[in-house]
Amino acid sequence: MKIISFEGIEGVGKSTQIKLLDDYLINKGFKTEILREPGSTSTGEKIRDILLNSHDDLSSKTELLLMFSARAQLIKEKIDNSTNDFILFDRFYDASSAYQGYGRGLSLKIIDSLIEFIECPVPNITFLLDIDVSEGFARKANDKKDRIESSGHTFFDNVRQGYLELSKDNKRIRVLDAKKEIGDIHQEIVSIVKEYL
Ligand code: TMP
Repeated sequence: MKIISFEGIEGVGKSTQIKLLDDYLINKGFKTEILREPGSTSTGEKIRDILLNSHDDLSSKTELLLMFSARAQLIKEKIDNSTNDFILFDRFYDASSAYQGYGRGLSLKIIDSLIEFIECPVPNITFLLDIDVSEGFARKANDKKDRIESSGHTFFDNVRQGYLELSKDNKRIRVLDAKKEIGDIHQEIVSIVKEYL
């Protein structure tokens, strides 16, 4: 089983690219599953609701631990015994380093120890779709903002820079320019994924 994760701030077009890659892989005869984080299990979706829709003033530490609770459940239910050829993640643990680490300012060392504690498998490839924060949010201008999306421009600048920082010392993370045409980005993704078929 191969794991491909997609990362980036809001409005970069992750879902579109995941769907296109999923269609491509299914056409090639592979068995695939798309998982979104937080979520994709019954428990995980309840935790997602707290994380995104709660009106409580959740602390950053609560936010981090809820992300990892949902993730631990996802790994147990969907990864450990998976018979899929490919799992496509709409965000995975790099999001915790970017959002809770670089964004909220929590310790990256603690986040790394949680990644180890819940035994996260390492993705074969991570596509980081990168875009300027203002452009990303302009694409979502008509959507109602959830709790995390309401965190402000500086927070998302830090998240974006955090993702780019993570990509610097990690060959697994491929940075793609999310301003390019949808079809061009898909072709770039396919040419990289082909190395793993
Ligand atoms: P989305 O799936 O609609 O993008 O919403 C998920 C939100 O949760 C998004 O704002 C990113 C955030 N998030 C974190 O802050 N940390 C994480 O570890 C993950 C997986 C998501």
